[in-house]
Amino acid sequence: MVNVVVNGIGTIGKRVAEAVKKQDDMTLYGLSDVSQNGGLRTVLSEDGPLHGTDLYASNNDGLEQLEDQGFYVNGLLEDSLDEVDVVVDCTPPGIDEMNKENLYAPNNVKAIFQGGAPKDIAPVAFNADANYDDARGEDFVKVVSCNTTSLSRTMSVVDEEFGINNAVASLVRRGGDIPQDSRGPINSTVPVTDVPSHHGPDVQAVMPDLEIKTLAVKVPVTYGHVHMVNVELESKPEDEEVKEAFRSQPRVDLVKAGEGYDSTGKVHEKMRDLHSERSDMPNAAVWEETVTVEDSTLYWIHMVHQESIVVPDNIDAIRAMFEMEDKESSIRKTDKVLGLR
Ligand SMILES: NC(=O)c1ccc[n+]([C@@H]2O[C@H](COP(=O)([O-])OP(=O)(O)OC[C@H]3O[C@@H](n4cnc5c(N)ncnc54)[C@H](OP(=O)(O)O)[C@@H]3O)[C@@H](O)[C@H]2O)c1
Repeated sequence: MVNVVVNGIGTIGKRVAEAVKKQDDMTLYGLSDVSQNGGLRTVLSEDGPLHGTDLYASNNDGLEQLEDQGFYVNGLLEDSLDEVDVVVDCTPPGIDEMNKENLYAPNNVKAIFQGGAPKDIAPVAFNADANYDDARGEDFVKVVSCNTTSLSRTMSVVDEEFGINNAVASLVRRGGDIPQDSRGPINSTVPVTDVPSHHGPDVQAVMPDLEIKTLAVKVPVTYGHVHMVNVELESKPEDEEVKEAFRSQPRVDLVKAGEGYDSTGKVHEKMRDLHSERSDMPNAAVWEETVTVEDSTLYWIHMVHQESIVVPDNIDAIRAMFEMEDKESSIRKTDKVLGLR
């Protein structure tokens, strides 16, 4: 059994920790943090999903702060790392780098980083579908961002089936997550003025041969990014063939506007009505009606639930790094346990 610690229990960390806890081939050894922020108190409470999990502090100030806030802390994470096989680092950008330098590398413990971490933090930018095998046996892996994950999942199946000459994606990004009450914008759409935006190169870190450019804006919503994509193909498939390719791709769903799911709000409500935990939607959702081929140009629009889409890929990254399963069986196993298609 692989012993896993999740460090940084916020939006991504609490979800990854719960997902690890549900797997039968890895053990959630503990959580690590520096403060109650991000929901730590709730998830560890008697009714919380991580109740009973050991809590560590990732530094001395954090230990003092957590104890002041009334938590029982088992000690410093560093003092337990010889029993830990991998840390999934879900701390904010900047902290991840310091943790690699001060905690993981000197203690020879493997680590997985998240989308906000710098490019060079790990030799592999990981998406389970696009490049699972690249992470085999690696000590450090970065699971790419929510935007990059959805683009990699959709682009990889389109490239495999129909060949991509080049792609352009326009990204409409959520302003912040639900608890991020200090983020914006309010009443504005804010363009990313670096054109093309960094998201294209981020996808190329996973799919180096893909010719892709991106543009992005930020809008005042909290649930979901929307991507409008057009792709020049090497072939001229029928719309239905592309839809079938998306249907066959793990972690990509087709949703129909005509069935009432004609906005991100309606898709969010669907997840609430399905009693999905936290109304999470780890699959990328492609609006079926938008999948259109004209000559050799393919268009589609998809939606990304930013808070949950990377969770299954973190689980697969652990299996790849410890060479526990091949790609297909890891994806199947993760999806079964997490209740994904
Ligand atoms: N949110 C998303 O939609 C999303 C999607 C995909 C990828 N990501 C990436 O995932 C990573 C985490 O983002 P997030 O949104 O989950 O952040 P978050 O909600 O702010 O959670 C980060 C947690 O780490 C804690 N922390 C800060 N310093 C720490 C330290 N030294 N040791 C341990 N814990 C520490 C923070 O506590 P304090 O608040 O007290 O500092 C907070 O509880 C980032 O790289 C981000 O880019 C985020």
